[in-house]
Amino acid sequence: MDPAGQPPVIDYEGSDYRSRFWEGQGRSYEDRVERIALRRLLPPRGDTLIDLGAGFGRLADEYQGYRRVVLFDYSRSLLREAQERLGDDPRFIYVAGNWYNLPFVDGLFDALVQVRTIHHAADVPALFGELARVAYPAGHYILEFASKRNLKAMLRYHLRRQTWSPYEPEPVEFAALNFDFHPDWIRERLCEAGFEPEEIRAVSYFRLQPLKRLVPTGLLAALDRALQPAGRWVQLTPSVFVRSANPRGNAPAPSGAFFACPSCRTPLPDREETPPRLICPSCALIWQVENNLFDFKEPV
Ligand SMILES: C[S@@+](CC[C@H](N)C(=O)[O-])C[C@H]1O[C@@H](n2cnc3c(N)ncnc32)[C@H](O)[C@@H]1O
Repeated sequence: MDPAGQPPVIDYEGSDYRSRFWEGQGRSYEDRVERIALRRLLPPRGDTLIDLGAGFGRLADEYQGYRRVVLFDYSRSLLREAQERLGDDPRFIYVAGNWYNLPFVDGLFDALVQVRTIHHAADVPALFGELARVAYPAGHYILEFASKRNLKAMLRYHLRRQTWSPYEPEPVEFAALNFDFHPDWIRERLCEAGFEPEEIRAVSYFRLQPLKRLVPTGLLAALDRALQPAGRWVQLTPSVFVRSANPRGNAPAPSGAFFACPSCRTPLPDREETPPRLICPSCALIWQVENNLFDFKEPV
């Protein structure tokens, strides 16, 4: 926790994540199989979707069937990259903030997506609590997490090349603010927050450099697609997707408000235009809107 009692947050401001991790980095297999799992689990149509830790909007084209799509991230610079990539499509709403204090009213989202981000969450129960608050009662939460109980980790553990056990339920912090999770531990935390896991997919069976170099990506992805449903019974892959329902979710506010103050949770009135900003009627904090990026990282 930081001095204000908040969990620590990793800072991707100014990060070259896109070019360093994705572009020309031999990860088209991972990208393909994650999209396969997401398409299988995400309801194809809906009203309002949030991608939490959206980064540069890698998966934004998967959300065609949604009326409004919030790309939410702590990094303003990655959101700016998303804006550049996606152009002026008015369905996309760019919001900078911290997922422990979401700047949205209760029950707003009928779909929540989180891919390759929860490994940065030092306080998963706090995060899941916030997500359950903003999820519509009939909504769905699609979570991808890095699983510590995967075949490679098991092998390394038994060969004594790794000290931590892949079988222990507790998360392992393998680098600062980078966690791998046990599938059973994630399921328990989801249930505690009121989510009901209803479908699980095991993903990325073939995440091995030599294999990816030798075998065409399309073939590996097809094999992965065939094996993903086995995740219902056993998950031994480094990546696991789980779709949860949220039957105990909050009903949306009758006011029709969208944003809420991340500090005191009061619904915010529509933005003022000159200068563009949102003012909390309760605590008077002012939140900036710059070039269509709603900035809730710090008040003005
Ligand atoms: C590894 S990137 C993944 C980006 C994207 N989901 C993808 O798959 O390409 C992790 C993202 O999570 C974001 N993130 C980490 N902690 C966060 C927090 N507390 N609130 C909001 N975003 C956060 C980072 O800024 C970063 O963009």
